[in-house]
Amino acid sequence: MDGLDLTGRVAVVTGGAGGIGRAICADLASLGAHVVVADLDADAAAETAKPLGGTARPVDLADPASIDAFTGAVGPVDVLVHNAGVSIVEPFTESDPAHWDLMWKVNLRAPMQLTRALLPGMSERGHGRLVFVSSDGARAGSGGEGAYAATKSGLFGLAKTLAREAARGGVTSNVVCPGPTDTPMVRQVAERHPGLLDKLARQIPLRRIGRPSDIAGLVAFLCTDRAAYITGQTLSVSGGITMQ
Ligand SMILES: NC(=O)c1ccc[n+]([C@@H]2O[C@H](COP(=O)([O-])OP(=O)(O)OC[C@H]3O[C@@H](n4cnc5c(N)ncnc54)[C@H](O)[C@@H]3O)[C@@H](O)[C@H]2O)c1
Repeated sequence: MDGLDLTGRVAVVTGGAGGIGRAICADLASLGAHVVVADLDADAAAETAKPLGGTARPVDLADPASIDAFTGAVGPVDVLVHNAGVSIVEPFTESDPAHWDLMWKVNLRAPMQLTRALLPGMSERGHGRLVFVSSDGARAGSGGEGAYAATKSGLFGLAKTLAREAARGGVTSNVVCPGPTDTPMVRQVAERHPGLLDKLARQIPLRRIGRPSDIAGLVAFLCTDRAAYITGQTLSVSGGITMQ
C-alpha cells in the first residue's frame, strides 16, 4: 500500500518511553520516521530511542519551563503525538486537588503548550500531524477517574478546534481513545484490585484487554499520507467496549 512511508519526517512522541508510547515509537520508526522520545524518565527514553535510531529528549510535561526548553531545542517537527498521561484513581468526592493540578498540567496543558509552539512550523511547511491520546474513560466515564476524564475530555474540543484552524496548513488533528490496555499504568491499578483485568476482559466484546500495539497501529496510520483526509475525529481502540 502506498502512502505509508514516513521517511524524512520527525515525530515527537510524548510519554514515548511508557507502555503505549514505546509501541507508537516503534511503529513510527518502522515506517521511516525519526522518532523523538519525549519523556520524564530519561533512562527509559534513551533505552527506547537507541534501537530505533531515534533521539531521547527528557522533558517534564508538568513544568511549563521544561516544555519551553524542549520546544526551543527540538527543531522542526512534522508529527506530534500527545501520548503522555497521568491517571490518579480515587473517588471524586475524596480526590485531592493537587492531583487535579498534576493531571491538568500533564494531560491537557502540556498538549496545549506543545501545540502552540510547534504547530506554526507545521503550517508554514504545509504539512503536519497532531494525534492526541485521550481515553475511553473520558468518552464513557470511568469510576474513580473524574479528574482524569475531565482533562482527557478537554482534548476532544482542542483537537477538533485545531482540525478546523490548521486544515489550510495541511495539518490534521485527531484523537485516539484507548480502552483498558496492558501497560504499567493499568498494572499499577490492577495490583490493588486483584481480578480486575479478567473482569474487564469479560466485558469487552473482543474478550481481551488491549495491547500497546493495538493503539500504536492506529496512531501511526493517522500520521501517514494515507490518512490525509481524516481530521477532527475521535476513534476508540478498545475491543468494542465503547461504540459511538
Ligand atoms: N493503559 C491504558 O489502559 C490506557 C487507557 C486509556 C488511555 N490511556 C492513555 O494512554 C497514554 C499512555 O498510557 P500508558 O498506559 O502507556 O501509560 P504509562 O504509564 O505506561 O506511560 C506514560 C508515560 O508518560 C510519561 N510521563 C508521565 N508523566 C510525565 C511528565 N510529567 N512529563 C513527561 N512524561 C511523563 C511516563 O514517564 C511514561 O513513560 C496516556 O495518555 C493514558 O492516559 C491509557
